[in-house]
Amino acid sequence: MNQHTDVVELLKAQHTRIRELFDEVANTKGEDRKRHFHDLVRLLAVHETAEEEVVHPFARKNIDGGELVVRDRIEEEEKAKRVLSALEDADTDSPEFLDRFTALREDVLAHADSEERYEFAHFHRVADRGRLENLARAVQAAEALAPTRPHPGTDTAAKNLVAGPVAAVIDRTRDVVRKAMG
Ligand SMILES: [Fe+2]
Ligand SMILES: [Fe+2]
Repeated sequence: MNQHTDVVELLKAQHTRIRELFDEVANTKGEDRKRHFHDLVRLLAVHETAEEEVVHPFARKNIDGGELVVRDRIEEEEKAKRVLSALEDADTDSPEFLDRFTALREDVLAHADSEERYEFAHFHRVADRGRLENLARAVQAAEALAPTRPHPGTDTAAKNLVAGPVAAVIDRTRDVVRKAMG
């Protein structure tokens, strides 16, 4: 992604990466699954928070019926974040994990499809390229500066002072995006 990427391209690429990470978690076990799940949680926390702060407010204001479209998307995001928080300390090889993970995967992928279809598909009609590039930069700032969560069982984990649970990642991402938006 370069500085001329627009926000629709950026978000769709993130949806693709989210889809891949869900597959990687589903198709692995043990330490590998733990690692992929960790990456997925972080990307989702950052992605959804950036959408809530940058993308949905833009859609609400600028697209026809934006208020309703955004309301449904935010409800879906709130639900996904609750499930992510509930799963963050789970044993990723347990049957309970797999059940909840599978449900989360279906919900999040349906959510991403709805965003692309009912929300992002209208952006090119209501804003010029420069505006959509600016929105992309705010989302990218969030991604670059958001805190990382430690990989479980690594040395850096113990030393990583900015690390925190899902809720902390979301809070810090929100702060970063608000600063980037000025
Ligand atoms: Fe979203
Ligand atoms: Fe999304």
